[in-house]
Amino acid sequence: MLRVAVCVSGGGTNLQAIIDALRSGTIENAQIVRVISNNKNAYALERAKAAGIEGVCVSPKEYATRALFNEALLACLKEAAPDLIVLAGFMVAVPSCVIEAFRDKIINIHPALIPSFCGKGYYGLHVHEKVLQRGAKVTGATVHFVDEDLDHGPILLQKAVEVREGDTPEVLQRRVMEEAEWILLPRAISLIAQDRVTIDDNRITHIKES
Ligand code: GAR
Repeated sequence: MLRVAVCVSGGGTNLQAIIDALRSGTIENAQIVRVISNNKNAYALERAKAAGIEGVCVSPKEYATRALFNEALLACLKEAAPDLIVLAGFMVAVPSCVIEAFRDKIINIHPALIPSFCGKGYYGLHVHEKVLQRGAKVTGATVHFVDEDLDHGPILLQKAVEVREGDTPEVLQRRVMEEAEWILLPRAISLIAQDRVTIDDNRITHIKES
């Protein structure tokens, strides 16, 4: 059974998609062992509670320095002993101590087609604002492994989503979530739980046929 820790910051619709996929059996052989939020008011924590999953808040506001927060986050993750850490709308730069301790065991969902519209400043609604400002006609979502560089690690899954005339950032965000994110993230966890994902020496992922 794959032990999954999910890190969140806000509404938690991606967390909900994972919970629903576990319930329906779309993801087999996995369980969420802990939900960690950097924000005590995150609605995602309510979703965890409603699903009977332990929710823990580790907020940078409660630590004197960033280094102390990083240590606390690492300790909280280690305590949960996860096989996989899922960043589901986690708006914190993952500290290198966490990346080292869980090398190639952390995945992130990004609301655009990496390597477009990613990196510093590209998070949440801002991503969709920038897609619209640039006039891109296609966007989407990406699930990738996390390494030391922001939005950079090996790409696992991607799905394109159409940008439509008259879209607002909010409308586009919703379409990207519905058509891509809520499908891709559970699928990624399912593939990893089935042990079908490998990363080669060139840092390219491969998915084994089932
Ligand atoms: C999602 O769109 C996710 O892709 C994005 O934040 C949103 C969180 O929504 N993540 C990033 O921008 C990370 N760079 P949720 O809390 O409802 O899942």
